[in-house]
Amino acid sequence: MEGVFVSDMIEPVRKRAKFSDRVRVFDTTLRDGEQTPGVCFTLDEKLEIARKLDDIGVDVIEAGFPVNSEEEIDTIRMIKGLGLRAKICGLARCVTGDVDACIKADVDRVHIFIATSDVHLKYKLRMDEEHALRQAVAATDYVKAHGLECEFSCEDATRTPLERLVKFYSSVDAHGADINNVPDTVGVMEPEAMQSFISELCISLKKPVSIHCHNDFGMAVANTLAGIKAGASQIHVTVNGLGERAGNASLEQAVTAMEAMYGVKTGIKLNMLKEASKLVERASMIRLTPNYPIVGDNAFAHEAGIHVHGVLAKAESYEPLTPEMVGQKRRIVMGKHTGKHAVSNFIKEKYNMSDEQIAEVVEKVRSHTINKKKITEDDVTTIVESVLGSMPDAERLVKLNEILVVTGDKITPTASVQLMANSARKVAAGVGTGPVDALSKAIQSALGEEIKLLNYKLEAISGGTDSLCTVEVEVEDDDGKTASGMAVGGDIVMASVNAIMESINRIYAKRRRD
Ligand code: KIV
Ligand code: ZN
Repeated sequence: MEGVFVSDMIEPVRKRAKFSDRVRVFDTTLRDGEQTPGVCFTLDEKLEIARKLDDIGVDVIEAGFPVNSEEEIDTIRMIKGLGLRAKICGLARCVTGDVDACIKADVDRVHIFIATSDVHLKYKLRMDEEHALRQAVAATDYVKAHGLECEFSCEDATRTPLERLVKFYSSVDAHGADINNVPDTVGVMEPEAMQSFISELCISLKKPVSIHCHNDFGMAVANTLAGIKAGASQIHVTVNGLGERAGNASLEQAVTAMEAMYGVKTGIKLNMLKEASKLVERASMIRLTPNYPIVGDNAFAHEAGIHVHGVLAKAESYEPLTPEMVGQKRRIVMGKHTGKHAVSNFIKEKYNMSDEQIAEVVEKVRSHTINKKKITEDDVTTIVESVLGSMPDAERLVKLNEILVVTGDKITPTASVQLMANSARKVAAGVGTGPVDALSKAIQSALGEEIKLLNYKLEAISGGTDSLCTVEVEVEDDDGKTASGMAVGGDIVMASVNAIMESINRIYAKRRRD
């Protein structure tokens, strides 16, 4: 595959594997993903995520658990009403009420499940195996009688004896179930075991086998790939690996690995993965760790020095695939491993500065990297601009004229601002949890738009209460444009406002450039 530089040692593995002709992608971000502790998508977010999933090419969208509420049913009906190409699926226990809720939600497919492991049967369901089997078969009959596709899961399948699983899956298959999903509900498998387990099931069962892996031991993606090598023809995944506890197999990682390592076609537009990830990151309010594979901020970031030299000479020396392939961009960051020479070369390439100014920037970057570990291109821009006398005044589209902040004990922190935005005078007030929050609300209200504060970092440069402090912020506008700003000052509130204004001006500058 062009732009992919994986190891030749994969070749024999690829040859031995029993890949299905077509692997389907079943996305459960809106169901298992929403079960992530603390995640709750709004209706608009669900519609937007469903559209994006369809755009990137998933085959099935598990849109929710309809029996949860009338609201959930309405939401799924609306997702169905979008007329997407992907099939819309609803989850149901093996009881008629749950299936009825799916029917009411107008889904194409009902995903019924019942637990089959000893521990679940005895302590959770308090029923014996035969009882559970009767319920599974009855639910399958009920779904099929309504003319819907039926996907059946033995919950906790990977802690259920194989013969019992074969009995459950073949019984529902005989009653018309269309696909057998195998959940590793508590993420207790490892790849070798998963491969032989799924092989056995593929041999014993007539209907297609699907896998649903959880990440409790960090093996969800590896187990998903093992299942695919054994012949599974559908994978359950979530964007950003959201899901119960440690999450589900990540869509971005599983799909990219399948395509890049095994040459298995998934129908997913890989170059849209980053934007899908960003959307879900924003809606879920779960920030990805920078080192998250494929779509994380550092996945294609290189710390200037030996690596950068290598990557610029030949990208594959330090990149297993091109960033563009997955909708990413290469980023060069400065860190403590960056030599002075590399920093000054980097600056010379991008800015027109005198040798003294470059020396000053290099020194500032170096002292920053010692305290801060890494510094991005945006940070370098901030330092360069501070050396050049900050962002040229003429380029600032938003300028603060007046601010007033009131805070204290037993009063609500309140701020008012008067500013110029695109040459128009705006006045507004805001309240917040503290003076900086109140000011940020007042600025947003004056601008008439929401500019989210993604990160706020305050650091005192020296020890005492009269110490200078550095404030670094990162903001994001409604279109997902982000920018950072940094300010230094003796007054925490003023340094914060200046950093916020700096970042807002950068967003405005980006918009103008676009
Ligand atoms: O992890 C699991 O077992 C599930 C089932 C509902 C399929 O999510
Ligand atoms: Zn699950």
